[in-house]
Amino acid sequence: MRMVDLIEKKRDGGELTTEEINFIIEGYTKGEIPDYQVSALAMAIFFKDMTQRERADLTMAMVHSGDTIDLSEIEGIKVDKHSTGGVGDTTTLVLAPLVAALDIPVAKMSGRGLGHTGGTIDKLESIEGFHVEIEREEFVELVNKHKIAVIGQTGNLTPADKKLYALRDVTGTVDSISLIASSIMSKKIAAGSDAIVLDVKTGAGAFMKTVDDAKALALAMVSIGNNVGRNTMAVISDMSQPLGFAIGNSLEVKEAIDTLKGQGPKDLEELCLALGRQMVYLAKKASSLEEAEEMLKEVIKNGKALEKFKEFIRNQGGNPDVVDHPEQLPQAKYQIEVPAKEDGVVAEIVADEIGTAAMWLGAGRATKESEIDLAVGLMLNKKIGDRVKKGESLVTIHANRENVDDVINKIYDNIRIADHAEAPVLIYGTVTE
Ligand code: URA
Ligand code: CA
Repeated sequence: MRMVDLIEKKRDGGELTTEEINFIIEGYTKGEIPDYQVSALAMAIFFKDMTQRERADLTMAMVHSGDTIDLSEIEGIKVDKHSTGGVGDTTTLVLAPLVAALDIPVAKMSGRGLGHTGGTIDKLESIEGFHVEIEREEFVELVNKHKIAVIGQTGNLTPADKKLYALRDVTGTVDSISLIASSIMSKKIAAGSDAIVLDVKTGAGAFMKTVDDAKALALAMVSIGNNVGRNTMAVISDMSQPLGFAIGNSLEVKEAIDTLKGQGPKDLEELCLALGRQMVYLAKKASSLEEAEEMLKEVIKNGKALEKFKEFIRNQGGNPDVVDHPEQLPQAKYQIEVPAKEDGVVAEIVADEIGTAAMWLGAGRATKESEIDLAVGLMLNKKIGDRVKKGESLVTIHANRENVDDVINKIYDNIRIADHAEAPVLIYGTVTE
């Protein structure tokens, strides 16, 4: 097989066979096929696209390019949730104990990563004593016994994806549904779960700016999952404004606790139920999505979800008292209000820009070396569609520095007040097969 022939085949609109795709990914991972040939192929895929079969083959070739996690010692159907990334997305912190409270195993492997706030692990580490440096045996034991545990990412997962994603980033070939879907799904499948629920975000703060693109990506990923034997469902949700009120690590832990008590922001609660019911259904604990949703509401109401969160914290060395006393979480030194300059209705809260403002306070990492400040962040006091009076606070800044003029200006630049506006749709649809 010669790489140049395969590039020409795709360039002319042909369909690559399973063997050809394996040849490409193996050769690329080993360094036998050079970047310039793979860039040409990626560009050909960008224009000529891939069939469902090719996408599934590409995904599995990337899965097999490195280590895969074996969760077979964990009893039951393991359902993983993945979000394509948003601002103030507190869903994982809520969903993990919520679903585990229904005896569904949550074996979460998580990273830290870059972004507006830290990752799930950073957020959880704002709980005193909580740690994810546990041995694999302990992890398996915890999930079997308590249905929930989180461990830091280990192993060399999907090296082919790492290499290809970096190459796409500098060759104008990121925005291909086929390549994005295979990239995301390869990582999820290598992480070992039996079933996958996807939260595909759309809007200013999301990777997919339009609902149509988000739907196409969701369909592509659901079909890859189902083609390779992992039951997969997706929710398409709004990320034009941040999710919930909190953007920041300990602030989001508090928000998750509120939500598990049934007192969280409405949008966060609604999205958690929409994703959670798919997880419960895929774990085969309910025979319909409606039944699954009722079960979730029940464990919020009877306090079992909250108890599960405490149990989870205790098991991993954390102080569970924060659940009843969230004021024990790290607190920032200063709380600064950002008052509205006029009367009206909030019409726009540009998610990614507001996320960046939180990052400037130290809530997230700009580079891998940056230190995170777990106490700082933003609390939105108004969301799109809310009435506001001049002088009323739009946002509360939680800061550990006295001068936050940069952050205040960024907030004013990215929250627009108008005469009329309505709350955006939160869930644009679901993809179930
Ligand atoms: N996120 C990924 O993991 N891969 C892509 O290709 C795009 C976004
Ligand atoms: Ca939030």
